Amino acid sequence: MKKSTSKDLALLGGQPVGKIESPHFPLFTDRTIKRVSKLLIDGKAVGLGRSHSPEIVEAEEAVSAYHSGRHCLSTSSGHGALQMALAGLEIGSGDEVITTPYTWGASISCILHQGAIPVFADVDPVTGLIDPKTIPSLITKRTRAILAVHIFGQPANMPAIMAIAKKHKLVVIEDGSQAHGASFKGKRVGNFGDAAGFSCMGGKLLATTEAGYLVTPKKDVYWKASLLCQHMGRSPDKGFPKELLPYADSLVYTYRMTPINAVLLTEQLKKLDREVDHRRRNAEHLRKYLSESHYVSLPVYKSYEKPAYHILTMNFDHASAGISRDTFLEAIKAEGLMVMAYVPSPIPSWHRLHWQNYKGPKAVWIEALKKSGIDYRKSKHPNCEHKIASALDMSFNFYKPAKSSMKKMADIIYKVEANIDVLRRWEKR
Ligand SMILES: Cc1ncc(COP(=O)(O)O)c(C=O)c1O
Repeated sequence: MKKSTSKDLALLGGQPVGKIESPHFPLFTDRTIKRVSKLLIDGKAVGLGRSHSPEIVEAEEAVSAYHSGRHCLSTSSGHGALQMALAGLEIGSGDEVITTPYTWGASISCILHQGAIPVFADVDPVTGLIDPKTIPSLITKRTRAILAVHIFGQPANMPAIMAIAKKHKLVVIEDGSQAHGASFKGKRVGNFGDAAGFSCMGGKLLATTEAGYLVTPKKDVYWKASLLCQHMGRSPDKGFPKELLPYADSLVYTYRMTPINAVLLTEQLKKLDREVDHRRRNAEHLRKYLSESHYVSLPVYKSYEKPAYHILTMNFDHASAGISRDTFLEAIKAEGLMVMAYVPSPIPSWHRLHWQNYKGPKAVWIEALKKSGIDYRKSKHPNCEHKIASALDMSFNFYKPAKSSMKKMADIIYKVEANIDVLRRWEKR
């Protein structure tokens, strides 16, 4: 492709290439809006469960069908779904859960809110996905689970993780919050582990307003999770186990879904695969346009790894470029391409996990961490650090054909690359 010729950088007062416009997101169809309006007109504001709300039954059945018949419990958020997945699997006080240091905090706070202890593995330095090879050495007699995150919509290597779990009799939870529709060897994420939690908040691939769901192949996990999700759990429903009846009460986290979000979920799901398909095509256009880049690359996926591209992550080769990722990032942002460094630092370095010198507002997990004796300040995650220092991440809501926007993105990157000498001098100023 023709590279843009070197012009003054917008960061240094030059003319920007121009803002990259992305389609209006989230887009709700007219039918969806009509259905939601009707609910409001009819005063159907609350869905107390399946027996009370046909909209929740419809949404859970649609999600269940999408996840090969796994049982679905709808929730008010992705965090709620993940925490209920852990609760349903009876992961609690003092149990260790091996997970990733490179994710959104809610993948970890769901563990902390159960009184369990996150133990951090390392990641692949290119994708930021949990590296299964780094899991076995962390297993102790207190380890109960592995929580894998399909970060940015990239599918984690679930067959490898499931094999480790099987060998050590651990359960597996998937966080598919950023990865609706992604798959690994033809199997959708969420369909590998003992349970999975998904976020359906308004910025996600399957966008409602604020909502989520868990899926599990185990009916007992579903029933137990329901006990904490909503008052009386799912005890009014057919098949609710008799032995759980004494525990169906209102000692709960009110994490139930609303009928409005149930309708949004049902309707949005109908177009999910088509939209993910466009995201993939657009990412491939960008990959092609950037094939001559000296410093920026997209992760290369195996033919059986199918990301959903909620966020598109790229890597900047700061060693060859001779400038920091942050300088490069500021320069491309100034040209009009909104990139970010999504994960600011490895999660174990976050202050709210350091019980040894914690001075913040009371956090419920501090006592559990102290009792376990874990010291996150000492943990080392070199690949995670590398990914954090290289990542150029962008929200990728290109769910319609957008080849010209991909070209413009590449033009911006080539313009900044053509001025790398200027940036080297500027950085040293
Ligand atoms: C990876 C991941 N896990 C969990 C969550 C939590 O989802 P929610 O915001 O719906 O609680 C998010 C949301 O941003 C996420 O990105």
